[in-house]
Amino acid sequence: MTSTFDSTGGKPGQVRFFLPGPVWVRDAVRQAMAHEAIGHRGKAFADLYARIPPRLAKVFRTEGFVFTTTSAATGLWEAALLNLMPERVLAIASGAFSERWAACARDLGLAVDVLEAPWGVPVDPAEVRRALGKAKYEAVTVVHSETSTGTLNDLEAIARAVREASNAFVLADVVTSVAGSPVECDAWGLDFVLSGSQKAFALPPGLGLAFASERFRERAKERSRAHYLRLSEAEAFAGKHQTPYTPSTPHLFALDVQLDHILAETVEGRWARHDALRARVAAWAAARGHAYVPPEGARSWTVSCLKPRPGLSSEALVANVKERGFTIGGGYGKWKASTFRIGHMGDVDMASLDALLAALDESAAEAAA
Ligand SMILES: Cc1ncc(COP(=O)(O)O)c(C=O)c1O
Repeated sequence: MTSTFDSTGGKPGQVRFFLPGPVWVRDAVRQAMAHEAIGHRGKAFADLYARIPPRLAKVFRTEGFVFTTTSAATGLWEAALLNLMPERVLAIASGAFSERWAACARDLGLAVDVLEAPWGVPVDPAEVRRALGKAKYEAVTVVHSETSTGTLNDLEAIARAVREASNAFVLADVVTSVAGSPVECDAWGLDFVLSGSQKAFALPPGLGLAFASERFRERAKERSRAHYLRLSEAEAFAGKHQTPYTPSTPHLFALDVQLDHILAETVEGRWARHDALRARVAAWAAARGHAYVPPEGARSWTVSCLKPRPGLSSEALVANVKERGFTIGGGYGKWKASTFRIGHMGDVDMASLDALLAALDESAAEAAA
């Protein structure tokens, strides 16, 4: 289904920036950030912050607790672990970001076992179940959409496997899935779910967005070793429509505007638009001989990771398309030279994507010449 919603806020075809985050930001959102200064302990802030969680919860698909932090998403990886303080963590690593979350757990001094899955291949829930049988784990970390490889894991099935095989808390990074493809915090039984503003929410970077289940919050009350991102503090202050520490108020003004926009499009409509963008890239890639890295059915709806057709260098392609005014992502980490990534998340519309694909065709012809 192709959404007819004007995602760009009035000018279809204007997006030229296709990194897999940070992403292009609409004028109305950027302008909202220029709001005059307000104090974060006054009524104007409380009025603003009171409006955020009820609408954010709709995007995270929960009746439970959602909150924002002034941090990168990485800060929320740490928050998930420091608030829980699990005795032993099973870290599912299938790409650069999930590997980094495992490293984060090790840096915090936690006992971590890594379940390694090959890059570009979705994690098999049966493997997760097997791994959980080998030791007593209190937490499982999983990245839903691995931005480094464009692979979408079956988070619902993985969470089910964790619940069936253990009592472990499911900690999910939905940084490049939520607001772009289905994430169901309540229905999938997730415990801590985190994202950042600079991905499918289409805000500037700097804001963390998260959900914590009731059982996670209960446990955090007893065990948390976090200070800046202590969950019980966030909860206590949320009751007063405040944040524990000085927030980035400009980001919250922007989020206020953007949540209206997202809910006007509808969460399902936003998913459908991203799915249509993904399908358009897939059809284009197949027609041009560029190989999609993840298999069909396990492709992120927000970032496409492709191997250029034989004889074409991905680095030349990225550089040539840049000269035409379009920014796309190169490969990530060990795949830097062998792949390129198109971020089609946030408020990207089909006309803009089509313009990019045409520019990529010209760039490929130039690189081959
Ligand atoms: C899946 C995933 N997790 C985590 C991060 C880290 O986000 P941040 O740079 O906001 O800490 C990224 C960034 O690209 C990501 O794609």
